[in-house]
Order: sequence, then structure tokens, then C-alpha cells
Amino acid sequence: MARIGTLDIVPALVNSSCAWSSNLEQLTALFDCPHTGAVITRTTTLNGFAEDSETHTVAFASESLSTLNSYGYSPHKLSQYLEWIGSILSTTSSKKPFIISATASDPESMQRVVSEIQVLRKKFPQIGIEFNTSCPNIQGSPPAGYTPRELRPLLLVLADAWAADPTLTIGLKLPPYVHAAEFAEVIHVLRGLCTLEPGSGVARSPIAYLACTNTLGNSLLFADQVQGNAAAEFAVPTALGGLAGESLHPLALGNVRSFSEALKAEGSSSGLRDVVIIGIGGVTTAAAAERMRKAGAKVVGSATLFGKEGVRAFEILAGGK
Ligand SMILES: Cc1cc2nc3c(=O)[nH]c(=O)nc-3n(C[C@H](O)[C@H](O)[C@H](O)COP(=O)(O)O)c2cc1C
Repeated sequence: MARIGTLDIVPALVNSSCAWSSNLEQLTALFDCPHTGAVITRTTTLNGFAEDSETHTVAFASESLSTLNSYGYSPHKLSQYLEWIGSILSTTSSKKPFIISATASDPESMQRVVSEIQVLRKKFPQIGIEFNTSCPNIQGSPPAGYTPRELRPLLLVLADAWAADPTLTIGLKLPPYVHAAEFAEVIHVLRGLCTLEPGSGVARSPIAYLACTNTLGNSLLFADQVQGNAAAEFAVPTALGGLAGESLHPLALGNVRSFSEALKAEGSSSGLRDVVIIGIGGVTTAAAAERMRKAGAKVVGSATLFGKEGVRAFEILAGGK
């Protein structure tokens, strides 16, 4: 089990936000699965994303359990997720958390996202927010997670929401980084959000967890490297897409370890020492989940294996099969 902010994740295994956590049926199956400790929705927005089946898709590699996808965000808007989650939670006494992955490109929209989620949290406090900063497939909008200083106005909206209600658990979904300065930059921005707790003098972070990592953008697979799709030239119609699964695993492990070490190195009065890492990327076996924990993850997440196996993926990761 793991505690992230005010959420208890039991067991410490989750789906990561993906195309297979998109609709009511998928969310219900994830919620009912005894091997998930929380359910994370596909990334949603206030108005929904214009999905088009010609452009937005996923392909599974032939030679490893890896995927390349060209999806943007969910076509279903935030209000739809709130309705679905409300309907699931109102028929159960389970306290399994739902984490709503959401994104916004300006502070006003982020404020509305938070306000709408807070309305449902009054009834169901086991709902958290994951701010996705890292989708590589949005035309004309590079992942903001690669320029963390520019995220500050949006992060300040989240920090204010947490200051007003510290029971709100907030996570950040980050892109895969490739050199030390990038990790240092994220830590610098997170440090700047911490506030001193009145009385105790201890700093606290509004961001309770980092979800590392999202897919590796700008990746290419040809059609003969993936299952099906023989007539096409490329694995996905956009040619370039986000790489995930086993091909991403070493980089994801490196990201988890880098953040884990950086957070541990924070001084004892730093608010960042309690920030939890959800390790995601190429977790396709129980051994890979264990490697994530060894690298510093307190919770482990999976998308590609879940896409292949359905909720049985979490039984596999728990070591059951
Ligand atoms: C088909 C597909 C759709 C995805 N959609 C999202 C999304 O909406 N939001 C998000 O934060 N990550 C999304 N991801 C990224 C996953 O959450 C995860 O970070 C990445 O796939 C690495 O994990 P994996 O190796 O277990 O697949 C998606 C991944 C896949 C394969």
C-alpha cells in the first residue's frame, strides 16, 4: 500500500492514464479489479478533444511488448468523467481513489477544471487530480513538461486550490527527460511552489506525486514493425508518435531513479521529501514492477500491458500469473 497526499493506494498498482481508461465500461472494470489500488482516467479537457479515427490510433510492436500511439486527449469532456465517476462511486462503499487526469493550457481553464472536480469531491473526497503536462501528440502544442518554468502559472492555480483545501491530492504527469539539467529544472519549479506550514515552519508541497513517465514523443516505427496494418507505410498515420512499453523501460527507470535521488537529496525542511513517484514505462512483468520500486517508485503503473491484457495485466504485475 502507499499513501499519496490523502489517498490510500492499496495495492500500490494502478493503470496509467491511457486510451483504455477512456469510457464508463473501462473505468468500471478498472475500479472493480482487486489488483488496482486506484483508477486513473484518460486525460480529459473542459471541452473534449476532437478525436479522429484516421489520425489517432495505437499500434503494438511485433518484436517486443511496446506501443506507438498518435492519440491526443480524450474525446470525452471533464463533465462526462465527473458524471461517470459519480455514478460508479455512488453505488459502492469502496474508498478506492479515482484520479482524474486533466489538462488545460491557460490558468482560467485550469481554474475551471479544479472547481468542477472540487464539486464532486465534496461528495467523494477520494478523487485526485493528475495534471498531464506531457502528451507529445498535440499539433502545434509541444509538451509543456519540457519547459517547466512556463508551467508555473498553471501550477500556481493548482497550488492555490491545495492551499484552500489541503485534502486535494495533486499529481504531475511528466515527459521522459534525457539529461540531468532537466530533472534539476523540474525540482527547482516544484521547490518554488512549496509553502511553509503555519506554526511548524515545515515546508509542504502542493504537488503530492510525480507520474514518470509519459510516452517518448517523435518516435517512428514502420508498418512492418507492428502487428497488422501491412498495407500502410508507417505504424501510425502520423508517422511520428509516442513510444511506450518495453522500448521505453530503461529510460523510464532512469527518470524514476533521477527524481527519487533528487527528492531524497532535498533538505529535511524541504516540502519535496514527501513527494511520491508513480513509476510508469515498460512495466510488463512483475520483475519490471519490482525494478520500478528499486528505482524509487512507491506506486507502479502500466498502460501498454493493460492495453494488451485488459485488467488481467494487474494480476500479472502483482505476480499472480
Ligand atoms: C494508447 C495510449 C494512450 C495514452 N494516453 C494517455 C493520456 O491520455 N494521458 C497520459 O497522461 N498518458 C497517456 N499515455 C501514456 C501512458 O500513461 C504511459 O505514461 C506510457 O504509455 C508509458 O507506460 P507503458 O509503457 O506502461 O505504456 C497513453 C499511452 C498509450 C499507449
